[in-house]
Amino acid sequence: MRIGILTGGGDCPGLNAVIRGLVLSGEKKYGYEFLGFRDGWAGPLNNLTMPLDVDFVRDKYDEGGTMLGTSRTNPLKDPAMIDQIKANLAANKIDVLVVMGGDDTLGVATRLAELGIHTIGVPKTIDNDLSATDTTFGFDTAVSIATEAVDRLHTTARSHHRALVVEVMGRHAGWIALHTGIAAGADFTMLPERETDLKVLCTAVQNEFGDGRKNYAIVVVSEGAKLAQQEETVTQDESMDAFGHVKLGGIGKAVAQAIEKETGIETRDVLLGHIQRGGSPTAFDRVLSTRYGLFATEMIHGGQFGQMAALKGGQIVAVPLASATDETKVVGEEWFPVLDILQA
Ligand code: F6P
Repeated sequence: MRIGILTGGGDCPGLNAVIRGLVLSGEKKYGYEFLGFRDGWAGPLNNLTMPLDVDFVRDKYDEGGTMLGTSRTNPLKDPAMIDQIKANLAANKIDVLVVMGGDDTLGVATRLAELGIHTIGVPKTIDNDLSATDTTFGFDTAVSIATEAVDRLHTTARSHHRALVVEVMGRHAGWIALHTGIAAGADFTMLPERETDLKVLCTAVQNEFGDGRKNYAIVVVSEGAKLAQQEETVTQDESMDAFGHVKLGGIGKAVAQAIEKETGIETRDVLLGHIQRGGSPTAFDRVLSTRYGLFATEMIHGGQFGQMAALKGGQIVAVPLASATDETKVVGEEWFPVLDILQA
């Protein structure tokens, strides 16, 4: 059997460990041959390929990024692109295509599965916003990086008696902010799922200043969060990516300026940006990614096409691809009281 693999959307620590697990188990257990498609859906669309075998992937367990490259190419924009992908898969004699991606990339895999192409999905995103799985690989790494960064910001904020606002990724799901805020002892955490009143935020910051107080404050802000006083979510500019998403970024600066204006407390902002997606995966993500890779091989062997590997209660199981992209998994209201207690 010949297996194609592609990685699409934003890169994510752990992608290489999934590919490694898949190729090692597929080649050793079942004698599968593998072909990598480069740069997301641009690969099968433009026939950009690279060979993949055990020798090539063997030591890639800890390497960040994706050895296949990635892009946000969206072939659903034009039916001719889907036809081209089908033709290139056939020309390369691909029996099964393993697609690693978030909701956009897996949405294309779902469509191809409906058209009869044997696709298998692996859930990837640092944002942890895919509904059909308990967690995606890369999320633990992103939270670890953000937590370490905020740990460091505590000492400089303390030394200068400042408020520091840290903006983290997550698009319209606040999981990275929630976990970082809790893990790194933030005084206030802003989520896209709950609008923040500027006065409530400023009171929380001011509560940290004064006699007997710590005299600095840390605020963690998810890039998709919004102050009730703002009309719209802050974006970098007017442009959108190929899947129609606005480019978020800048809310941290706006919040820092608002805090300083309202309270008179010197406030700085830090944008963590792509640092959260870079570098080596945590041990947790290496293990999870490897398990996903090994399980994808068993899905191929069992003919579980149109399905995605998912983590459910500690077990990796197969779920329908469409269920992964049905709805965005956002932070539920049950988390709000947790934050309220911690930041009171
Ligand atoms: O992949 C998801 C994500 O990491 C979001 O959290 C973020 O908004 C976006 O990617 C950034 O994408 P890009 O790499 O295109 O700037």
